[in-house]
Amino acid sequence: MRRIFSGIQPTGNLHLGNYLGAIRNWVRLQDEFECLFCVVDLHAITVWQDPAELRANTRRIAAAMIASGVDAEKHIVFVQSQVAAHAQLAWILNCVARLGWLNRMTQFKEKAGKHRENASVGLYAYPNLMAADILAYKATHVPVGEDQKQHLELTRDIAQKFNADFGVPLFPLPEPLILGPATRVMSLRDGKVKMSKSDASEYSRINMTDDADTIRRKIQKATSDPGLLPDTPEELEGRPEAANLLGIYAALADQTLQAACSQFAGECSRRLNEHWLTLQLPDSSRSPRKCAVWRATRGISMRFLPRARTARGLLPRLLCARSSTW
Ligand code: AMP
Ligand code: TRP
Repeated sequence: MRRIFSGIQPTGNLHLGNYLGAIRNWVRLQDEFECLFCVVDLHAITVWQDPAELRANTRRIAAAMIASGVDAEKHIVFVQSQVAAHAQLAWILNCVARLGWLNRMTQFKEKAGKHRENASVGLYAYPNLMAADILAYKATHVPVGEDQKQHLELTRDIAQKFNADFGVPLFPLPEPLILGPATRVMSLRDGKVKMSKSDASEYSRINMTDDADTIRRKIQKATSDPGLLPDTPEELEGRPEAANLLGIYAALADQTLQAACSQFAGECSRRLNEHWLTLQLPDSSRSPRKCAVWRATRGISMRFLPRARTARGLLPRLLCARSSTW
């Protein structure tokens, strides 16, 4: 059984990085795998969120997934906090993962920054919750952007230790699927930082809900360097802005980075940006509000959590709601 699990935090508008690094790959993998796509609101609250805004964003992100082509009729699209098993398994995994493992997580270091002592305990334990998301469904494959690779490695370590500690081959070791030429889309203002929902500058990212004029303006203002574009990806070393623009172009044109280099070799970045404008960006005319049904999946619960509980020596739950299909 090949099963995908992946998630996105409801912390703002989806941007081109989310689309190229994650959602476009989800859509392309839908025919080959059984899929669960999750709006991970419990991850979002590891940092401050305004409650009303969080509620609205949760719906907005689910709608944006569907607008991007996720098939919510064929696959499962749901909200993390509505399925209690995620938090329950996360606690069991908190007791499996080692402090030393979490101390290595670079995303925590980046997000907590200098105010580490003031960060929530949830932000620190967040990778264990992510492992629970994946392992609760015995997902075999996890399509994500490059930034999540380390969390996936940790998930594999946790699964392996659980299986070894309790002598049960319960959890498969999930494979990361980090696909395409734009697995790490960088800010349009600074090629050394990731494009992100939380960047203060709107000009740093292209939101999936931006209209064509806004996208045009942002691309025209994108930072690059004055050099001409090279023949090969290797020559982009040390030129993060040019590498980013070519990477995005290649992904949107569905080419390899080498093909994009060959196409634009000897040109300046401005010329590349004019080409960008002719490419198809996610269809922002389909407003999330108008798009198909938003399917809440309150009913899904799992077969696997009880097995993890038993292996760990916990008594069964008295009440366990199960859907007929899961
Ligand atoms: P997040 O917005 O952090 O919840 O990320 C959701 C998904 O989008 C994850 O699979 C990330 O790896 C991916 N992602 C986020 N930002 C980027 C980026 N700048 N480039 C590529 N993938 C990204
Ligand atoms: N941590 C991921 C991010 O910030 C989101 C996420 C949570 C996720 N649970 C997941 C991704 C499980 C893949 C699988 O982008």
